[in-house]
Amino acid sequence: MRFPIVIPLNYLYNSMRGTMDKEIKKILYKEDEIAEKVEELAKRIDQDYVGGTLLLVCVLKGACVFHADLIRHIKRPVMIDFISASSYGMSSKTSGAVKIDKDLDYSIEGMDVVIVEDIIDTGLTLKYLTENMRARNPKSVEICTLLDKPARREADIEVKYTGFEIPDEFIVGYGIDYAEKFRNLPYIGVPEQID
Ligand code: IMP
Ligand code: MG
Repeated sequence: MRFPIVIPLNYLYNSMRGTMDKEIKKILYKEDEIAEKVEELAKRIDQDYVGGTLLLVCVLKGACVFHADLIRHIKRPVMIDFISASSYGMSSKTSGAVKIDKDLDYSIEGMDVVIVEDIIDTGLTLKYLTENMRARNPKSVEICTLLDKPARREADIEVKYTGFEIPDEFIVGYGIDYAEKFRNLPYIGVPEQID
């Protein structure tokens, strides 16, 4: 005699979702919405820079996914480089005192530089980075960020390219982490629990 096996549908659904997905309480931007926005930003950059040497600087690690997608939608030739910066001290709140952990590989003298960032919060990191780069005699320095939390701004910075303005919520995914986790989520969401 055979017995049918009954599996509750929600059990089946949950077991198919990745373990990280289960820790996300709200999705802010889905993969296709992000892709559309990234393409739009790339088009604007293409229109704005004709001739010259254009360098797209990725601010590690959070901007790595955004940077990789953005450069592949830009049609004109670009150069890329990477910089890594962190705030001094153990506090999770940005202090404004920034140190460069990994500097650019080459001189940026005479180049059009676009700093590619994942998210702007207080803006203190980018204020430091833009001033630091301007001191190296580039032709121009602009900022391109996928996300911006204007409500949290402390530093006065000018952002030329912004993907999405978001409310003051802690988000993860698409390169952005919480304690090094969630960077490989293809979408942007709000995690269930942050300490
Ligand atoms: P700030 O603009 O100097 O305050 O710092 C920006 C950096 O803080 C970003 O590049 C992120 O690394 C981090 N950050 C800010 N908001 C978030 C968030 O909602 N989730 C994850 N990291 C964030
Ligand atoms: Mg960042």
